[in-house]
Amino acid sequence: MILVTGSAGFIGANFVLDWLAQHDEAVVGLDKLTYAGNLESLASLKDDPRHIFVRGDIGDAELAGRLLEQYCPRAIINFAAESHVDRSIHGPEDFIQTNIVGTFHLLEAARAYWGNLTGEEKTGFRFLHVSTDEVYGSLAKGEPAFSETRRYEPNSPYSASKAASDHLVRAYHHTYGLPVLTTNCSNNYGPYHFPEKLIPLMIVNALAGKPLPVYGDGQQIRDWLYVRDHCAAIRCVLEKGRLGEVYNVGGWNEKANLDIVHTICTLLDELRPRQDGKSYRAQIALVTDRPGHDRRYAIDAHKIEHELGWKPAETFETGIRKTVQWYLDNQGWVNNVQSGSYRQWLEKNYAGRG
Ligand code: NAD
Ligand code: TYD
Repeated sequence: MILVTGSAGFIGANFVLDWLAQHDEAVVGLDKLTYAGNLESLASLKDDPRHIFVRGDIGDAELAGRLLEQYCPRAIINFAAESHVDRSIHGPEDFIQTNIVGTFHLLEAARAYWGNLTGEEKTGFRFLHVSTDEVYGSLAKGEPAFSETRRYEPNSPYSASKAASDHLVRAYHHTYGLPVLTTNCSNNYGPYHFPEKLIPLMIVNALAGKPLPVYGDGQQIRDWLYVRDHCAAIRCVLEKGRLGEVYNVGGWNEKANLDIVHTICTLLDELRPRQDGKSYRAQIALVTDRPGHDRRYAIDAHKIEHELGWKPAETFETGIRKTVQWYLDNQGWVNNVQSGSYRQWLEKNYAGRG
């Protein structure tokens, strides 16, 4: 079996659902269930004997050690993290705690467990760390996309904490020989995405008749990848990746934020037209920019494509249509995550933006 941390989050939940749709190999999920963790995303696995869920912190080394001894997984896939840049600006401490200290404790537990393995169990074991393109910092217009050898230049507390975790993972390979793999992926979108991030927030706000808050001039560029393509890339790296290597994952899909919001409005105009006949674009509001806002991210995905044969299955056009349709079909999921703490977050992040 495999151990998946952060399994109740956006990408972790998609990964577990896809994994069990394709394998009979069991999954132990470990998730602290912070505001971003949602067991409802895994509700379809409730009676599935191949899925075991444990609520807990990756920073609890004793718990992680116990789970490793009990379930003897052949791999750990580490998705668990604090993941929202705006939250890291308002309060960086949780990011340091989970992304750096938590990853350290998980690595320690993995090192102790792996150290006691023998034979094929030892040679076959993998620790796959899921990271982000944001560790590389911001690109100027026309600069080449991030390759794996690009210098780390993280600009937000979130990206700095992920960068630190990447360095720890690298060091555990170099120093102790722990069989690690790291993936640095671009922005994901798709089902079960918490509506504090750009794409789900715009869909949810549009349908609720609320403003669509675009930071600054809306010309910041992100490189979007459909979440299930990211999950496929992780499975590919897990099976074929070379130990100690880093693989950048991206969809060659650079888009400006305002263009993303326009695309969402156009799809909603088609699929769920406003009652007054106007376009959802009427709800777009340019608001005060994010401090230190990175201008552009772009991934050079040649290494994973050439070396491991991975390619995204979705174009942005097919993926965004599926995503908008998913939110239209899953209003219950959305309503349940919009709890009191979600409303408090919206108040904190958007109230001060003119
Ligand atoms: P998310 O915020 O939706 O989910 C994170 C999950 O981790 C949640 O279920 C949360 O409860 C859990 N968690 C948080 N702290 C924990 C702790 N201390 N112990 C155990 N569980 C804990 O994030 P996501 O978008 O699913 O991202 C998953 C991973 O992928 C992160 O490491 C993130 O840096 C990386 N990543 C995300 C994107 C993206 O666009 N979302 C892109 C590239 C990389
Ligand atoms: P986000 O989804 O938070 O991902 P990240 O900051 O990790 O790239 O934001 C994506 C882009 O959208 C980013 O440039 C910030 C911008 N953005 C807005 O313009 N308005 C918003 O309300 C949010 C949440 C993000």
